[in-house]
Amino acid sequence: MKQDMIVILDMGSTENTVLARAIRELGVYSEIHPHDITAAELGRLDNVKGIILNGGENRVVDGQAVEVRPEIYDCKIPVMAADHPTARCEQKLAGLPDKETLKAFVFDECKAETNWNMKNFIEDQVELIRRQVGDRKVLLALSGGVDSSVVAAMLLKAIGQQLTCVHVNHGLMRKNESEGVVEVFKNQLHANLIYVDATERFLGKLDGVSDPEQKRKIIGGEFIRVFEEEARKLDGIEFLGQGTIYPDIIESGTKTAKMVKSHHNVGGLPEDLQFELVEPLKQLFKDEVRACGIELGLPAHMVYRQPFPGPGLGVRCLGAITRDRLEAVRESDAILREEFAAAGLDGKVWQYFTVVPDFKSVGMKNHERSFDYMVIIRAINTVDAMTATVEKVDWEVLEKITNRILAEVGNVNRVCYDMSPKPPATIEFE
Ligand code: XMP
Repeated sequence: MKQDMIVILDMGSTENTVLARAIRELGVYSEIHPHDITAAELGRLDNVKGIILNGGENRVVDGQAVEVRPEIYDCKIPVMAADHPTARCEQKLAGLPDKETLKAFVFDECKAETNWNMKNFIEDQVELIRRQVGDRKVLLALSGGVDSSVVAAMLLKAIGQQLTCVHVNHGLMRKNESEGVVEVFKNQLHANLIYVDATERFLGKLDGVSDPEQKRKIIGGEFIRVFEEEARKLDGIEFLGQGTIYPDIIESGTKTAKMVKSHHNVGGLPEDLQFELVEPLKQLFKDEVRACGIELGLPAHMVYRQPFPGPGLGVRCLGAITRDRLEAVRESDAILREEFAAAGLDGKVWQYFTVVPDFKSVGMKNHERSFDYMVIIRAINTVDAMTATVEKVDWEVLEKITNRILAEVGNVNRVCYDMSPKPPATIEFE
């Protein structure tokens, strides 16, 4: 990394990422490191122009108040403390610096240059990838999500046909989603893309399975097996591309929350498939990943796509998955997305989708009794997916969506709107 950097040392603040973001918004790169970093470790980071100790005096680890190693003060790098009164530096603030104070520290004191932008970042990463990979080959599981799509575009730019992407369609994708991945990566960007339609295999394994955790385990496990089978067919792959992003790195190891449900992403491959990882996005926050995708030329609908769980529509077709209800989830979700886009809600609402429960209710269709499924609409807003509030969708928009679902989706006679925040509900139903 050629870019100037301000290092934040985590002294127990809950706002390290807020500060890192604020510095990056000034056009200067910033990273968060543990408070007990050694001078040698600091020396190995490129172009460190300043250090901010971030956090209060009350944090105690193993019975000792948190302090930086004294050698850090001897590194001849300007130090500022945000709320850390025992720090050995002149500038001590009672909390996070305001923008002017931050600017004065970063530019006047540290003399950092504003060279953090996506163009430079991509240039750096392309060079680093080429250096790491040489003339060898990289494999990437391309789900079509934001992170894997941006990694694919970045690797494609760096090493072109040395990259092989595998897209596994587990049959639980949204309408036209797998087709979109093939269109963009294979037809437009000419990537080496292996498309695997594993619909029958997944639905077969899931047949009759109603327990949500069991469903998740089957989908996650099968995903790895299909990917592994494809990997074994290929010769001479030495690297695995991965869409790790900065929050994954900051959060790993500090998570103390109890498991509510097992989220799945591609990860645990068998040990005999030994790949070295290529993780070109590991320094980026989510919105920076999107900016990077746009800079790399990916279409906006792919880059600004709402989050979609790894197990896909499998956790929205509640209970044991049946093909008729899976189709109802897929079609109603497509209608919801179309109408949200038409109403200008697609860029505003964080996540919106439909689910279909595994029971029927009585209704009337064409003057006759019907006994059919219901579609539940969910639309929520959140900052970090840990808590969520319900979007107050206009009545007219809901009416239009309801009418379309009732008219266009088979086996459905009722539409409901989910009013539950998280907690006590979770965002998904399973
Ligand atoms: P919950 O339902 O736990 O969801 O409130 C929080 C966010 O995570 C998404 N989600 C997943 N994402 N793999 C993922 O990559 C998963 O297995 C998974 N399950 C839930 C969910 O859509 C929401 O945005």
